[in-house]
Amino acid sequence: MSKLVINGGYPLCGVVRIQGAKNSVLPIMAAALLAEDECVIENVPDISDLHSAIEILSALGAQTTLYENKIVIDSRYAKGFEIPDTLMRKMRSSIMFLGAILSVSKRAKVSFPGGCEIGNRPIDLHISALKKMNVTIHDTFGYIDCETKGLLGANITLSFPSVGATENIMLAAVKADGVTVINNAAKEPEITDLQDFLNVMGGRVSGAGTSVITISGVKRLHGARYKIIPDRIVASTYLCAVAATRGNALFKNVDTQHLSVVLSLLRDAGCKIDEYHDSVSIECDKINHVDTVNLIRTMPYPGFPTDAGPPFVSLMALATGSTVFVETIFENRFKYIGELLRMGANIKVEGRVAVVEGVNRLYGTSVEAYDLRGGAALCVAGLAAEGETEILNAGYIERGYEHIDRDLQELGGKIELIDGGLQ
Ligand code: UD1
Repeated sequence: MSKLVINGGYPLCGVVRIQGAKNSVLPIMAAALLAEDECVIENVPDISDLHSAIEILSALGAQTTLYENKIVIDSRYAKGFEIPDTLMRKMRSSIMFLGAILSVSKRAKVSFPGGCEIGNRPIDLHISALKKMNVTIHDTFGYIDCETKGLLGANITLSFPSVGATENIMLAAVKADGVTVINNAAKEPEITDLQDFLNVMGGRVSGAGTSVITISGVKRLHGARYKIIPDRIVASTYLCAVAATRGNALFKNVDTQHLSVVLSLLRDAGCKIDEYHDSVSIECDKINHVDTVNLIRTMPYPGFPTDAGPPFVSLMALATGSTVFVETIFENRFKYIGELLRMGANIKVEGRVAVVEGVNRLYGTSVEAYDLRGGAALCVAGLAAEGETEILNAGYIERGYEHIDRDLQELGGKIELIDGGLQ
């Protein structure tokens, strides 16, 4: 078990490059299964979720080579249809491979996905959409066995704009017979990234970034070279860390459009933010509570992202007033708050609402990460806290942050990963 040890209380200052987006690279790796020749994906983050996706691809028969944030995927002989249970349990996004496997093999057998413990996370929207696309599904003893005589285009309306379901449908539809329309589709930038990659491969997908996506099935997709977008959640986390430590930093490889709500809230909180073509700078002397909005509610994109909630709560724990957070996406996202209380935070939680009363100071102690973004929130708190913070179960953080210790050390943070390394 790896742990992070942080000696807090030092302002973070300097320049760091933000990694490629975790939530883009996973569906894009699934998309590479559909290509008739090699795909080269650039700007990929070297995180443990990417290594889990590599294991899935190799279980299906694909060959991968990862070097210098580039991955080469050759899926020509990937005819497998089953993802081993151990891999499904490692990360929820493994469900993303379902549509692509069905497209390649006409059969897919997977167990129910695992992932962060932030809520129930059902997959009913994925399943009902695939059924509409001519897939027969048997659900027995924790396994989903899917079969199709050929994927057919369909008109699908999602009852909630699920990111994963939207991506799975796009992957199933891109080589299906006919046209698929997704109504109430998720609008996250990672959906647009997937659309762009599919189109570079020869797909005919349009509408990503709006709530209606249209996919006209094509017979074949060829290999492609593609660079994925920067990770907006890593950028949000590091911005919060700089603000919480009253620092001053520049982040490169950032798309500020993807961060507009987060940047606007940071400005409300008293930070000076300057946006450039592909970078953003932040300077913070004093953290105000966000009273211009009164409360922060997580929403599907372009709203405030649920994944940026935990680091922002850590920041507001140090503000001069109170902020109310409402989590509307996942029902069990506040587990890390118990750990923040151990560090001296004053936060009350009732169901999906957290009332954060700012305190002058947090104090280092031993805390535990229970999920990826909750772990990141503890990092932000630890960097700002007085004394030493030890974060157990740092493996959760390594699922989504490429060398968080290295990045924060570059900013002058006194942080060390112990017993680390990717699993
Ligand atoms: C993706 C992101 C995750 C982010 C989330 C919301 C990836 C790899 N992960 O997760 O970081 O926090 O979007 O922005 O991209 N739901 C159902 N039935 C379904 C599918 C989802 O009820 O079939 C519910 C979920 O329980 C949850 C909500 O819809 O309450 C959002 O889930 P979804 O958008 O699907 O998130 P993920 O794709 O799992």
